Amino acid sequence: MQKNLGKVACIFGASGFIGRHLIRRLIKKGFRIIAVTRSPYLHGHLKPLGNPGQIDLEKVNLFDEERLRILIKSSDVVINLVGILYETKKQKFEDIHAKFPDLLSKLCSELNIKKLVHISALGINETVSSQYMQSKLKGEKNIINNFNCSVILRPSVIFGPEDKFFNRFASIAEFLPILPLIGGGLTYFQPIYVGDIAKSIMAVLEEEEINNNIFELGGPQIITYKELMKILLKEINKKRFLVPIPFPFAKFQAKILQLLPKPLLTVDQIEMLKYDNIVTNKYPTLKDLKINPKTIESVLPNYIWRFRKGGQFAKL
Ligand SMILES: NC(=O)c1ccc[n+]([C@@H]2O[C@H](COP(=O)([O-])OP(=O)(O)OC[C@H]3O[C@@H](n4cnc5c(N)ncnc54)[C@H](OP(=O)(O)O)[C@@H]3O)[C@@H](O)[C@H]2O)c1
Repeated sequence: MQKNLGKVACIFGASGFIGRHLIRRLIKKGFRIIAVTRSPYLHGHLKPLGNPGQIDLEKVNLFDEERLRILIKSSDVVINLVGILYETKKQKFEDIHAKFPDLLSKLCSELNIKKLVHISALGINETVSSQYMQSKLKGEKNIINNFNCSVILRPSVIFGPEDKFFNRFASIAEFLPILPLIGGGLTYFQPIYVGDIAKSIMAVLEEEEINNNIFELGGPQIITYKELMKILLKEINKKRFLVPIPFPFAKFQAKILQLLPKPLLTVDQIEMLKYDNIVTNKYPTLKDLKINPKTIESVLPNYIWRFRKGGQFAKL
């Protein structure tokens, strides 16, 4: 891609939940996009988000250093949205969340890229025992060590049309008379709308002075897992028993469920649920980016209706 026709953003993990929302905003600002994916033939739907030629889909192995060098060299800014929720035989947290950010940030430094924006996760610190969290922490440290012009964003759980939180529990409620409250459902979250994540990325890209900084991104509500399930059930107009499951029993169930090809629950996710997922106020937040976040109630009804008894126009 030629650089002289407008700014170029290279997005790793562009085909995912955040990627699709971010691409729309970048396109509006006139960016041209290199969308990195393992399967361009499955993600042709990204191309019409831009004008003809504005979005390039590139099939790349994340550890093919020479290919990465070529793509990064053609870019002004780099955004890393690559992440996994559970490990498989081929995909390990260490590789995806720690080694790849290490390589990426080294290349960004070598090639003098203007900015690297990396999406990490809220709630990470040395004491959290989850392997997901530890690998994310390692990734952050690698980036900070390697490249000054980097910005790390740590979001809480993200909601929006294709989210893996409300959609997953709503689909469980389709066939089960209960919804599980792991650990009693007492863990606090600060859910944030995917559009506000895309806005945050745009804000840090546009700001000249934000370098080597960590932002914690949480929405306007601090709310327990149990309260979230109640909001969901109200919106889908279903009555389900909310059944508290103690952590040790949930862990036992997860040991079995994580054997599925696409696990509903893993032991590592149970570990994460032991810790609140809210901003600590030790780092800048959405307020510093001048973003007024959307509430769950203002967004959830717009997409979760497909699980609602009676459909989109059913009276609640
Ligand atoms: N969604 C949330 O609630 C949430 C909350 C906190 C933090 N985050 C973090 O935010 C980032 C983006 O989240 P998301 O929800 O947009 O994730 P997502 O929808 O699962 O998308 C992840 C992307 O990672 C890419 N990917 C996964 N494994 C890969 C591999 N081995 N090689 C190359 N690409 C690979 C996939 O691209 P292809 O399949 O096209 O190759 C996919 O587009 C992740 O780092 C995630 O941990 C998300």
